[in-house]
Amino acid sequence: MNTEIIKIDPDNIDMALIDRAAEIIRRGGLVVFPTETVYGLGANTFDPRAVAGIYAAKGRPSDNPLISHVCSLEQAEELASEIPDRARRLMEHFWGGPLTVILKRKSGVPDIVSAGLDTVSIRFPSHSVAYELIKRAGVPIAAPSANLSGSPSPTTARHAIYDMDGRVDMIIDGGDSFIGVESTVVDMTLDVPTVLRPGAITAEEIASVAGQCVYGGDYSNAPKCPGMKYTHYSPKADVWAVNDMDRIPPAENSAVLTYGGGRFDRPVYDAGKTVGDYAAKLFYFLRKADEDGIKTVYARLPKAEGIGVAVRNRLLKAAGGKVL
Ligand code: TXA
Ligand code: MG
Repeated sequence: MNTEIIKIDPDNIDMALIDRAAEIIRRGGLVVFPTETVYGLGANTFDPRAVAGIYAAKGRPSDNPLISHVCSLEQAEELASEIPDRARRLMEHFWGGPLTVILKRKSGVPDIVSAGLDTVSIRFPSHSVAYELIKRAGVPIAAPSANLSGSPSPTTARHAIYDMDGRVDMIIDGGDSFIGVESTVVDMTLDVPTVLRPGAITAEEIASVAGQCVYGGDYSNAPKCPGMKYTHYSPKADVWAVNDMDRIPPAENSAVLTYGGGRFDRPVYDAGKTVGDYAAKLFYFLRKADEDGIKTVYARLPKAEGIGVAVRNRLLKAAGGKVL
C-alpha cells in the first residue's frame, strides 16, 4: 500500500489537509494521527471492514478490543447503551484528555471493535489534530496505538512511520505526543470504578469526581482488559527495571535510562527532571536504544505516585518483570 505522509502543525491547523484525512476515514481507509498520549492508527468505528484493516496493519490478535475516539459527549452516546451519572461526571470533567471509559455497548457498534465483549471503550482526546480529524470525519474513530503489535507505542511521527509506512493510507506528522504513555482505562461497568490500565489521570483523581475508584491490581494479567495480557512495549534490548540506581552491574553495550540526574559509568538516556518528563520520553528512548544497538537498558523505576504508576506499569512490562 502506498502511504501518504503529511505534516500538520497542531498550533496552526491546515483544515484542507484535515479534510483529506477525514475523507480517507469516511471511505474506509486507515489514518495514523497524533494524540496527546501516543500516536493512534484510526478507522471508522462503524465500518467493520475498515476496523479489520487496523488489526491486519498492526498484526494485532483479534481478541483485543479497540478504543473509539470521539469529539463530544453526544458522540459517546452513539456508542454506549447507558451512561451512568458518575461516568458522565468523569467524562465532563476529564474530556478532552487522556481518560478512556468502558461502558455498556450499544448494539450498533460492530462486534469487531469490542472483540465480542458487551462493553465499549471511549476516549475524547485533547490533541487539536485528533479533535479536528474526528470532527470532520463525522464518525467515531477506532484507534489503537500505531505500533506493530508487541512494540512500544510510537510517540513521534518518525516512530509511527517506522512501524506503519506501507500499511496505512495516510500518516499525519503532528509532532511529538505530549504525555507519552497511553490513556488511563477505567471500567465504569463495575460496582467500583476500576482502572484496568494506569495513565496520566490517577485512580485518586477519578475517585475525587466519581466517588470511588481503585487500581485493578495485577495489570499484567487483568482479564477484563484483554490487551494487558500481551507482552507489550518490549524493545529488542534486554530491559531491567531498577530500584537502586547504585546497584547497576557492569554489562557490555549497556545504557542507563533515567530522570532527575545522577552520575553513571556508561551512556545515559536522560529523560529530564520529573517523572512526567520520564513518561514523555520512555517509549521514545526504548526505541532509540534499539536504533543505537544497545543490548541492555537499565531503567529507573519511579515511585508509584501520580503518573509514576503508569510508568512503572509500562517499564515492568518492557522488563518482563525483571527488577534490580
Ligand atoms: O492513549 C491511548 O489510549 C491510545 C491513543 C491512540 O488513544 N490508544 C491505545 O489503544 O492505547 P490500544 O488499543 O493500544 O490500547 C487499548 C487498551 C487495550 O489494552 C485493550 O485491551 C483495552 O484498552 N480495551 C479496549 N476496549 C476494552 C473493553 N471494552 N474492555 C476492556 N478493555 C478494553
Ligand atoms: Mg497499544
